[in-house]
Amino acid sequence: MKLLAPSILAGDWWNIGVQIEATVRGGADVIHFDVMDGHFVPNITVGSEMLACISKRVNLPIDAHLMIESPDRYIPRFIEAGANWVSVHIENTPHIHRTLSLIKEMKAKAGVVINPGTPLTSLEEVLHYADYVLLMSVNPGFSGQSFIERSLDRLRDLKELRDELNPDCLIEIDGGIKEGNIKEVAQAGADVIVVGSGIFAAEDIEAQTAKLKALIS
Ligand code: DX5
Ligand code: ZN
Repeated sequence: MKLLAPSILAGDWWNIGVQIEATVRGGADVIHFDVMDGHFVPNITVGSEMLACISKRVNLPIDAHLMIESPDRYIPRFIEAGANWVSVHIENTPHIHRTLSLIKEMKAKAGVVINPGTPLTSLEEVLHYADYVLLMSVNPGFSGQSFIERSLDRLRDLKELRDELNPDCLIEIDGGIKEGNIKEVAQAGADVIVVGSGIFAAEDIEAQTAKLKALIS
């Protein structure tokens, strides 16, 4: 089964609770929560207090995508706030096994994220240890960017690598995925598909979520 993960970064923060509930009714499987610090990426978002507000009220796993420097310093705080999945970027996490262990010890799923410009070979030493890999299909920092087409080939290659090294590891993909390409992305091997503006820019968020869910089911 393929999972759909709405990225609430693309939502309207004034109405975010109402909008999250609409995605839940539409069949969302996971809530994707983007954390940015203005250093690792050129944008700033929200922190663990906001995540706690959501986790208290939403009965779905929360997937915290950490685009921050020194993630180890903040991981416990996010998991205590209710993050069920936590991912860190391979580009800025020098002691990656230690960081993934920290996440696992706190009983969350541990993910490793890879940017579009980073060779997939850099995952070879860590795939055996991750619960999921998050393949970026845009350069992280903003919702609403265009899907980098090369990501489809990378996704197929990553699936091969995953099947060989750790078949239990899920593959998540994030960035520029919409109605027009979600099916192709699912067929290329993604298990978890993040969609931001492709859901939240719609007039009817519940119906749009249900539509995308149907396309990957
Ligand atoms: C980008 C974030 C994404 C983003 C996706 O750095 O990691 O999760 O919100 O938004 P769309 O689907 O609009 O590209
Ligand atoms: Zn993300």
